[in-house]
Amino acid sequence: MKVMVIGGGGREHALVWSLRQSSKVSEVVCAPGNAGIAELATCVPLAVNEFEAIAKYANEHEIDLIVVGPDDPLADGIVDVLQSYGLNVFGPNKAAAEIEGSKVFMKHLLRKYNIPTAAYETFDDVELALRYVRSQPMPTVIKADGLAAGKGVIIAHTLAEAEAALHETMVDKKFGKSGNRIVIEEFMQGQEISILAFVDGETVRACVPAQDHKPIFDGDQGPNTGGMGTYSPVPHIDASVVEEALKTIIEPTARAMVQEGRTFKGLLFAGLMITPEGQPKVVEFNARFGDPETQVVLPRLKTDIVEVFEAVVKGTLHNIQLEWSDDAAVCVTVASEGYPGTYRKGDVITGLANVGQKALVFHAGTASNEAGNIVTNGGRVLGIVGRGQDVKAAQAAAYAAVKEISFDGMYYRTDIAGKALTGTLV
Ligand code: AMP
Ligand code: GLY
Repeated sequence: MKVMVIGGGGREHALVWSLRQSSKVSEVVCAPGNAGIAELATCVPLAVNEFEAIAKYANEHEIDLIVVGPDDPLADGIVDVLQSYGLNVFGPNKAAAEIEGSKVFMKHLLRKYNIPTAAYETFDDVELALRYVRSQPMPTVIKADGLAAGKGVIIAHTLAEAEAALHETMVDKKFGKSGNRIVIEEFMQGQEISILAFVDGETVRACVPAQDHKPIFDGDQGPNTGGMGTYSPVPHIDASVVEEALKTIIEPTARAMVQEGRTFKGLLFAGLMITPEGQPKVVEFNARFGDPETQVVLPRLKTDIVEVFEAVVKGTLHNIQLEWSDDAAVCVTVASEGYPGTYRKGDVITGLANVGQKALVFHAGTASNEAGNIVTNGGRVLGIVGRGQDVKAAQAAAYAAVKEISFDGMYYRTDIAGKALTGTLV
């Protein structure tokens, strides 16, 4: 089979790597890919928003299956366009991707179907939003409705911060039209986990859970990023809690989407808060693989991923059981200094060849320069994945590999997976 992956980050590198493990796959193409992906796949210089050009390429090259990575093209209907050209695509259509594209839609859906999540109200008028927020206990959470590159969520600890956030979002339009509507929701305490689940309508097959580290600095300090590291399994979250999340959240959400006429086919990512009482509640849904959750989940998948993708596309997921390795995986994101703010590009990365068998190196923001060197080309540059018989061993493997790599302004957190080792409930 010829498979095409859309995207060019660490998640897509992990998807391409996973596809390469399948004996059914003869060729992988990636648009646009990156310098690491280019070692495993044919990279074609098409941007993720060039739907017609991607369709044309896929038809001309007889691509059997297309897997879409990022959120923006899904929200903009890439799946609908590619399907209209007769192509097989793994990913939700535009109507179903709204579960990520509009937080207002998602919250109303959960309320309508009684699915556990933070209490909330929605607003499109700043005066009404200000009046409401003044009646709320602090901290409170303010979310722009639309996609905002992971930055549209503000946790306000004081009323002054909440008022400033409403102004920035609704009046100054810091997140563009994503801030035309907002959600104000209850602050939830607890431990966050990510559950990625394959969904073909009503059948759900959940992956092993992972935990992300969103803040830039050690100890979960500083602004949120796209994700500074992940690990799987999450040993201090009981399996019964994951089972409860499946029964009370993910399966009911899949059924709700069918009932709403927005059948979800693809990868549904539930970001959950496990409250101190042990109840899972929805923080967010994404309509795609998590980044960098995918980098630790897929290396643990023993089932052939192409069979899973095909089952979702055909609606036969009920015939599939996912099998997982007991090994743990830890991903340390290596970033450019300044991220998530402004950062430099074009610094030469050295030491990649020294990593060898120590770890998997998934490229996130890299490119090849004219001299043939691999250089930095993004805020998140690499995801280094260590594996081992438990989280401690996987963490040691990841950091040993990180130490081999260097570039000017290289930055990474030193405490990824620390919570699993101390069991700390942050
Ligand atoms: P989101 O983009 O919706 O996942 O939000 C980004 C991050 O903000 C989440 O990963 C949480 O750490 C935090 N967050 C979002 N909503 C809440 C909430 N209601 N209570 C506490 N933290 C939240
Ligand atoms: N790691 C969080 C996300 O992919 O949205």
